[in-house]
Amino acid sequence: MSPKREFPTNFLWGSATSSHQVEGGLKNNWSLWEKENAKRLSESVLNNRPWFLTNEKNYNEAIDSNNYISGIAADSYNRYKEDVKILKELGLKSYRFSVDWSRIEPEEGVFSKEGLAYYKSLVEELKKNDIEPFITCWHWTFPVWIEKELEDERVVEYFERYVSFLVENLGEDVKHWGTINEPMSMTLGYLLGLWPPGKKNIFSFFKVCGKVLVDMHKVGYRVIKDYDSSLQVSFAQNNSLNVAYRDRFLNKIPTKILDYFWNYWFLDKVVDYMDYISLNFYMKNVVSLTGRKNPKEPVSDMGWYMEPRAIGGVLKNLRDRYDLPIYITENGLADREDKYRSWWIDETVLGMLDAIEAGVDLRGYMYWSLLDNFEWAEGFWPRFGLVEVNRENQDRRIRGSAYHYSKIVKKNGII
Ligand code: BGC
Repeated sequence: MSPKREFPTNFLWGSATSSHQVEGGLKNNWSLWEKENAKRLSESVLNNRPWFLTNEKNYNEAIDSNNYISGIAADSYNRYKEDVKILKELGLKSYRFSVDWSRIEPEEGVFSKEGLAYYKSLVEELKKNDIEPFITCWHWTFPVWIEKELEDERVVEYFERYVSFLVENLGEDVKHWGTINEPMSMTLGYLLGLWPPGKKNIFSFFKVCGKVLVDMHKVGYRVIKDYDSSLQVSFAQNNSLNVAYRDRFLNKIPTKILDYFWNYWFLDKVVDYMDYISLNFYMKNVVSLTGRKNPKEPVSDMGWYMEPRAIGGVLKNLRDRYDLPIYITENGLADREDKYRSWWIDETVLGMLDAIEAGVDLRGYMYWSLLDNFEWAEGFWPRFGLVEVNRENQDRRIRGSAYHYSKIVKKNGII
């Protein structure tokens, strides 16, 4: 008889967001960059992303420069109670969100009571509803006074002071902490110039990713553990499943290189400074010597090839290499018409069950994202939300796939 395919009791089903992408009303390095780049992004979009043409609504938004300004975003700053109510209605048990450094320390060394009060109220609202908060201290945005961002190593000391403030004020109520989000993806802004600071410099990339962010994570970890050693600390790592095209020997070489570099290079440096793995999973890559050979179908609205069940392989690989408990802190797709989302979630659930059956200590899953939000350099057009957000008035509407997810959550397994 095959073993019972089920999730552990107390499995933390949930959802995730980040401050800049949902709160609205922020003044940080990204909001400045958006203003300078919105026009360019709207004009260059068709050269970079021809698949926009397949959906008229996406197309129309993508060529509009307003799409690239975060502005009021999903107005979660004012509507967080409504958002927590939705989490509760769906039966979710965890919520990952990030604190915007610019709200907490708008000027160097000056900590804002109002900024802190917002996050305290959010945490309080979550706890009142029995939803476990997962805090991320830094999801890519800086207060504007940190002028050189990651290129000035003083940022490590600034981060230490900021994280101390956070943990001293929120440490009693929040058990799960994330220092930084996806160092590898974020620093593409230094290697490929996609994002602030818009650099294309391999030396900068190696310095900020291989040294500055490593140090930021380590000091953040130490500060949080010094405050209370029982707090659980990690950072979010985006791993993909990489396989060689047609399993050919020559394709295995670039696959190994990509796999090591993207998935493990950073993790290996900080593995002694983490209590769990915080996995963000989106992609499977079929790799060949001449580039990526992903199948053309099915793809999400972002043009990303979708094979959600591949999450099982990523989880097993992480277990084999590090043997730590794992939470999935992001996973999802851009799907305006909600055509694939329920399927994606079902397949992901099967992938997670395969991993659990193989002995992976998986403790939670947070769908990205709770809300339609501001997708960085793509702006608002990609719709990742379990909840649709009306761009005109920020009203919420729960999507069909969210109710589908909710059934899985309430059953704690396949429905
Ligand atoms: C980031 C999110 C982003 C998501 C979808 C992750 O890399 O952490 O901020 O919205 O991917 O692209």
